[in-house]
Amino acid sequence: EMSAEERAFQERIDAEIKIEPKNWMPDGYRKTLIRQISQHAHSEVVGMLPEGNWLTRAPTLKRKLQLMAKIQDEAGHGLYLYSAMETLGADRDEEIDKLHDGKVKYSSIFNYPTLSWADIGTIGWLVDGAAIVNQVPLQRTSYGPYSRAMIRVCKEESFHQRQGYQILLDLMQGGTDEQKAMVQDSINRFWWPVLMMFGPSDADSPNSAQSMAWKIKRHSNDELRQRFIDQTVPQLEFLGCTAPDPDLKWNEARGHYDFGEIDWSEFFDVLKGNGPCNRERIETRKQAIDDGAWVREAAKAYAAKQRARQAA
Ligand code: 3HC
Repeated sequence: EMSAEERAFQERIDAEIKIEPKNWMPDGYRKTLIRQISQHAHSEVVGMLPEGNWLTRAPTLKRKLQLMAKIQDEAGHGLYLYSAMETLGADRDEEIDKLHDGKVKYSSIFNYPTLSWADIGTIGWLVDGAAIVNQVPLQRTSYGPYSRAMIRVCKEESFHQRQGYQILLDLMQGGTDEQKAMVQDSINRFWWPVLMMFGPSDADSPNSAQSMAWKIKRHSNDELRQRFIDQTVPQLEFLGCTAPDPDLKWNEARGHYDFGEIDWSEFFDVLKGNGPCNRERIETRKQAIDDGAWVREAAKAYAAKQRARQAA
């Protein structure tokens, strides 16, 4: 039986009125938003590492500048999202400690290594492409600050996807046979982990039902995964590449592409921390936080001095 407050809250959700920080909200709504937004922010920050691996080895100055801009964008996305999370009363340092202690998650995809320059193209095209399919509906999420952060993020993501696809198109249209093989190898390594980004299948998604009722999540994991595949296969064919999935083929009756079984044991293994790069990613993040402590202390000291000067 809903309380009067819960009923009023759900009516606001059903009327598509955004929930703002000052509004009453069920503890569960607050809790699941802190869970999702903090993990989303962690994903953006950890997501800079695989790309940073190729910053000093970009083949041209133009590609280096594009990659630098993309990485800076991801850092900014992380900061918008940590700020949106703080409006729910969560503490940024505490949430980052939980990441370092392996108590919370970040997107599984960032636990895979970037072994070639083509991976930078694949990440832009497939990883950011999947992130766009996931983030566009989040522009309409019921929590105001999260929705507004997503509107800003989505504007920047489309540039990321285009520059990634362009890297692969240049290699496929103008590259040597060896470079074309490098592109196909990259797609073979990232294809299935990218499909896992959308989360477990709907039958195994414990948070989905409640998140859909609260209009935090607008489409199910499987729905967005299918939407991503349907839009990506034509791009894959235009590249002249294939996916490592013999069951991938258009199903006229369904109006969608059929595709093979996802290896969920790999997904849950990566979530448990046993992916190729999990340990390295967290160690690098811990080191970065330690190395940056002096900057944060200096900024706080400066801010305190400013306040004292204004108060004087
Ligand atoms: N990686 C890691 N954990 C994942 C995951 C993934 N790809 N997919 C699901 N999970 C976790 C969930 O967090 C949940 O664990 P938790 O309860 O401890 O948080 C568990 O698996 C079960 O999944 P559910 O489907 O029940 O969880 P959700 O309803 O939260 O759905 C989600 C998962 C679709 C990822 C949703 O949380 C979401 O939309 N998050 C916001 C978007 C996001 O985080 N995107 C990351 C993409 S990378 C990115 O955006 C950076 C870009 O710039 C490249």
